[in-house]
Order: sequence, then structure tokens, then C-alpha cells
Amino acid sequence: MPGLAIIGAQWGDEGKGKITDYLGEDADLIVRFQGGNNAGHTIVVDGKVFKLHGLPSGVVRKGKLAVIGNGVVVNLEELAEEIEQVKEAGGSIEGLRISDRAHLIMNYHKKLDGAEEKYRGKNVVGTTKKGIGPAYQDKIARIGFRAGDLLEDDLLKEKIGFIIPYKKDMLDMMGAEPCQCTTESLYAKMAGWRDMIGDCICDTSVLVNDALDENRNVIFEGAQGAMLDIDHGTYPYVTSSATCGGGVCTGSGVAPNRIDRMLGVVKAYTTRVGEGPFVTELAEEDEKKLQAKGGEFGVTTGRGRRCGWLDLVVVEHAQRMCGFTSIVMTKIDVLDDVPELPVCVAYEIDGTEYRHFPASISKLNRAKPVYETLRGWKGTDDTESLVKGGYDNLPGEMREYIEFTERYLKTPVDIVSVGPGRDQTIDRRNGDWWS
Ligand code: GDP
Ligand code: IMO
Ligand code: MG
Repeated sequence: MPGLAIIGAQWGDEGKGKITDYLGEDADLIVRFQGGNNAGHTIVVDGKVFKLHGLPSGVVRKGKLAVIGNGVVVNLEELAEEIEQVKEAGGSIEGLRISDRAHLIMNYHKKLDGAEEKYRGKNVVGTTKKGIGPAYQDKIARIGFRAGDLLEDDLLKEKIGFIIPYKKDMLDMMGAEPCQCTTESLYAKMAGWRDMIGDCICDTSVLVNDALDENRNVIFEGAQGAMLDIDHGTYPYVTSSATCGGGVCTGSGVAPNRIDRMLGVVKAYTTRVGEGPFVTELAEEDEKKLQAKGGEFGVTTGRGRRCGWLDLVVVEHAQRMCGFTSIVMTKIDVLDDVPELPVCVAYEIDGTEYRHFPASISKLNRAKPVYETLRGWKGTDDTESLVKGGYDNLPGEMREYIEFTERYLKTPVDIVSVGPGRDQTIDRRNGDWWS
């Protein structure tokens, strides 16, 4: 069973990086399949903190292939800085491979991202301003640069000649900061990118499928979360890629039957960065407390994350879109010492009870959470003992919280994460993920 996907089941920042790194020990390849450097994945190894944006979490472990799949949008300028940081921290990028079909994020995409946000006025999305939306727009409009274009000089020159006047007009029309580059300067810059990573560019679909054929273990590392999916998320307050189960296949060039396990990462409470509906969001004072306790500040933008109680209507939606075979519950340690824990099991909207997450933003803005209140637990700050004791010795109330989630989702919670470190992980399958 060598194909395992790790997907965020809420609005991102569930702890996907930590879990990818934890399970990465036995993986040969780690593949990113969507999103770009809007992601911020934190990995803590022996107290050393890695914050990865565009690079797959696999680069932290030596001897792994870290693959950027065709569904990802790549900012090569910012990737170069990240590569330097990883090298300085003792990591390696020898195993980095980039799909020749992956689209490139250009400087004008970042400028357009900012300009579009200004136009949206009070309907601002709160993007990361990394140029993600405009880069995917160009992909769909069939005018984007692909990584493989760097290897074809004539094609590259022709595309640059077409795109420069087009984007200059567009930036001008949008009132954005003008683009100073000329066809010559952009060509020189892109030729520099070719020198830097040209050797890493290849058909990663062949690479990944060959690995699966050889029974090697492959992790597909999701970015963002199901509720930020362009189709199934809280549109328009979403990112511009397919973050759910189907995105694994389209974004890495593998067939659906190659994914053997689908892991949904669920934070034990809910967070969201940026705008958009959030039914279980706490009032400001309580939100600040949970934000401080959970260290809920964005890895990419530094923004404070909005915080609320666990919303199982959200996670059920993610489960339906992704078909999770296991749930990984993270950050349960943060809920220590909370006497009562409300868990949202339905929404009440205009007098009707909803068990399924509605598409309408105005309905969501009127939705009131229907809670079941579970008992809290105390004294779980000694995570070493918690891990040593294993699942059966966790406080009864904590197990009830976990098992309530299992019953609601009809899916086992196979991993419980009680801290940011690799070793702060209770694995109910005892490492049996690949058989
Ligand atoms: P990602 O985007 O899904 O990879 O998640 P982020 O890295 O953006 O945010 C998760 C944060 O929680 C990071 O600071 C992690 O180091 C931290 N973290 C992950 N798992 C746990 C956990 O079980 N407990 C605690 N206390 N922190 C965790
Ligand atoms: P990871 O992988 C949390 C949010 C932004 C904004 C919306 C659109 O670390 O979980 P974009 O720049 O993608 O056009 O912004 O999506 N967003 C994230 N929120 N975690 C992320 O990634 C996110 N990536 C984008 O805050 O609301
Ligand atoms: Mg993150």
C-alpha cells in the first residue's frame, strides 16, 4: 500500500507538515500536488524548527525525493531563498524534483494579487499576497509559464515577448505597481532560474508512478485544507487550487486507484486565517486566549489565526470530499485545562437544522452552531509520559473527545498528536502504515 495522502480537513494549518515529517521516516518520496508558497508547514526536529513554504516537507529528511508536482505553482525566486535556509539548517535539497508541467509564479502575479484585493473592497479575501490566484488564472487562461519552458529557449523567448506587453497593460489597468522588466531582463532572470534548478525539472508523473510500481512508499503532502478548496470550500473565501482528494491525482499525475490511504488532519479545535464564514468562531477575548495557548500565528504572513471550537460539520464535509481512511487529531494538548469542550454537530439556520455544510455564504453567516458539550481534562502537559503510556492511558475525557469524533465521522482516529515534535505522537497503528 505505497500511496498515502495527507490532507488538511479544515481551513489549513492543521499540522500537515508535522505529520508528513513523522510518517516521512518510512517514505521514499514526498510529493506536493497543489498550492504554492502560500503554505507554511512547520516541522520540529530535536528542537530545531523548519518552516517550509514551497518545498515539500521531505527535504528535511536526507535520502528522500522531494517532488513538486504539476498542480503546484512555483515561485522560483522565493524557492531559492528557502533552499538556502534549509541548507543552512543542515537539510538537503539533493532529492528535489520539479514537474516540467508546474506553473511559475512571476512578480507580476504578486502585484496583481495585491491589486485584486484592493478592488474587492469590503469583500477582500485576505490572501497571502503570494500571487497564487493570478498564477492559477494564467494557467487556466493558457498563458502561464511552465517550469519546462525554461528548458526550451525558443519557446521561452517567444512567450516572454508576448507576455510582457500583455501584463504591463493589465497592471496599468488595475492601478498596480508597474512592471519594470523588459523582454531582455526577464529572459536573463529566467535563464538564471534554468541554471539554478534546470537539472531538477523532469516529468514527475513518470517518477512517482514508477516509484509506486516498484512498491516504494510515496506521501502526497496536501497544502491548505478542504475548506479552502476552489470548488468545495467557502467560495469566494478560498484559495485557487483543488485541495481535496481529487487534487492529489490531477496535481501529481497519478490515477485515483494509486492512493491507498487518505489521512485527514484535524486540529482538535478550529482555526482560519483571512476572511470568510466561521460558524464556531469564539468571541474576541476567548479567541485571544486560545490563539496564545495554541501559538496560532500564520507561518507565511504572521497574521493571528481566528480560533473556534471543533466543528464536525466542517470535518464531515471534508470527509465526504476526500474519503479519509484515517483521521489524525493534532494539538489536542492545547485543550488541556478547559473544563467543558463544546463540539459543533449541526448548524441552525433560519429555524432549520443543517447536518451538511451549505454552499451559501449568507446562510453560513446566519448559521448558529448546535453544540454537544463534552468534559475537559487536566494535567496532560507531560507529553513524554502521555506518549509512553500510549492511547489506552490517555485521560478518559480525552479519549471520549477522540471517540466522539470517530463515531461522528465513522472513521478511526489513528494518530493523536500531543505536541509539535516528531516524538510527541501517539500512533495507534504502531507504524503500520504501508502494509
Ligand atoms: P500546517 O500548515 O498544516 O503544516 O500547520 P502549521 O505548521 O501552519 O501550523 C501548525 C502549528 O502547530 C505549528 O506551529 C506546529 O509546530 C504546531 N503543532 C503541530 N502539531 C502539534 C500538536 O500536536 N501540538 C502542539 N501544541 N503543536 C502542534
Ligand atoms: P497551509 O498549507 C491557512 C488562506 C489565506 C486566504 C485564502 C486565499 O499552511 O495550511 P491565497 O494566498 O491562497 O490566495 O489566499 O487562503 N490560506 C491559508 N490559510 N493555511 C494555509 O496553508 C493557507 N494558504 C492560503 O489566508 O484566506
Ligand atoms: Mg500552515
